[in-house]
Amino acid sequence: MKKRWGGRFAGATSVSSEHFLASVQFDSALVDYDIQGSIAHAQMLGVCGIITQEEAASLQVGLREVHRRIAAGECGFTAADEDVHMWVERLLSEQIGPLAGKLHTARSRNDQVALDTHLFVREKVLVLMEGTIRLIRALMERADTFCDILLPGYTHLQRAQPVLWSHHLLAYAWMFERDSRRLQGCFGSANCSPLGAGALAGTTFPIDRVLVSETLSFDALYENSMDAVSDRDYLIDILSACATIMMHLSRLSEELVLWTSHEFGFVHLSDGFCTGSSIMPQKRNPDCAELIRGKCGRVYGALISLLTTMKGLPLAYNKDLQEDKECLFDAVRTTEQCLGIMGEMVAEMSPRAPAMERAMEQGFLNATELADFLAARGLPFRDAHHVVGALVLQCEREGKRLEDLSDAELLAASPLLTSDARSCLSYSRAVERRTSRGGTASTAVAEQRNRLEERVDAIERWWGDVRDRVSAKG
Ligand code: ARG
Repeated sequence: MKKRWGGRFAGATSVSSEHFLASVQFDSALVDYDIQGSIAHAQMLGVCGIITQEEAASLQVGLREVHRRIAAGECGFTAADEDVHMWVERLLSEQIGPLAGKLHTARSRNDQVALDTHLFVREKVLVLMEGTIRLIRALMERADTFCDILLPGYTHLQRAQPVLWSHHLLAYAWMFERDSRRLQGCFGSANCSPLGAGALAGTTFPIDRVLVSETLSFDALYENSMDAVSDRDYLIDILSACATIMMHLSRLSEELVLWTSHEFGFVHLSDGFCTGSSIMPQKRNPDCAELIRGKCGRVYGALISLLTTMKGLPLAYNKDLQEDKECLFDAVRTTEQCLGIMGEMVAEMSPRAPAMERAMEQGFLNATELADFLAARGLPFRDAHHVVGALVLQCEREGKRLEDLSDAELLAASPLLTSDARSCLSYSRAVERRTSRGGTASTAVAEQRNRLEERVDAIERWWGDVRDRVSAKG
């Protein structure tokens, strides 16, 4: 096939390099955005008198027909088409003839591909936000439904102090709330139009960049044409947000894997998210959680890959930039999928309160309470810590819990440990007394839950407004 840029070439591209250089096999995923951008560009060329209004109209009709044909699966491509832009241009010229050649007036593939990926990111950010919001709501619903269940809270994976299960779940909900806001930021960095930058230096044609930008409902446009064609920060932003989301998903997955083990037995995942073993009939494995944890690495990889691609690039466009796409597509698809699975899995999981309670009563999770009791009676906290530490050692040797100690044993440890000290050994009391803002008492948890809901409602309203704006105009 004669190349569209082939005028100054006497020889043909080698078959191997044609395959090596081609991106159409993956960037065809951008075809909707490419055509959307081309329609806006053609319309602007007409309005500015760079081509006639009739020509602009024919280009737009042709592009819409090409779009229809692609959606109907009527159009294939080969490596000879090189990339999505050249593929669409070939189809357009088959559709409307030589007029198709006017579409590329005042445009380069460099600003065109940048436009396509900006549009892609804007749309995908909204999809990812939908996933984070669903997941937050699922975590909140599980927290509400089982709001009075206690479990051991851990530090160093050693039992530390009792907490509400709802408190533990909401900790994750807050992580995904921050992720949602990070995604809002990603929308902002992608919401800027590069079209009109040309190859790198702008154009001699009297184009109207603002018109194109408004047609595609961008909030801003790049003020420097060299920056416009070589910037990939907006991709690094979304990859970095995806990496953080995956890190959070992976931490939650890790807890689910631990919690569903016989060693913990804290949680039941529904059958829909577990699998059996081909040899061991008793097995019920938390595969979905494991696979989410496992997929985290490839999303980190995508971020590192693009950061590395960018670090040595001189201005402006370089072919290296073509390497931005596969990792972007993969990372976004993976993150979207993992958010969806986690949302569904969380919605159907249930806590096993008796196992949590058993675990909570072993491991001296009420020791801090006893030390606080002594400190409240005037003993310096360091000394109180020491007294209770000695009692823990005694209990450990005798195989009992602090609440199993007799009144005499308590008094022997300290004259301040009168029989009313016993009440502070209650686990639910330990929880309910932690009323500090952000603490685990049920009143404090109800407060944080309401604050979280307000924030998520606000994010969801923003999401709805932006989605309507982008889809109405685009
Ligand atoms: N396929 C290219 C990419 O993904 C499109 C831009 C090509 N520009 C060029 N001057 N070769 O980056």
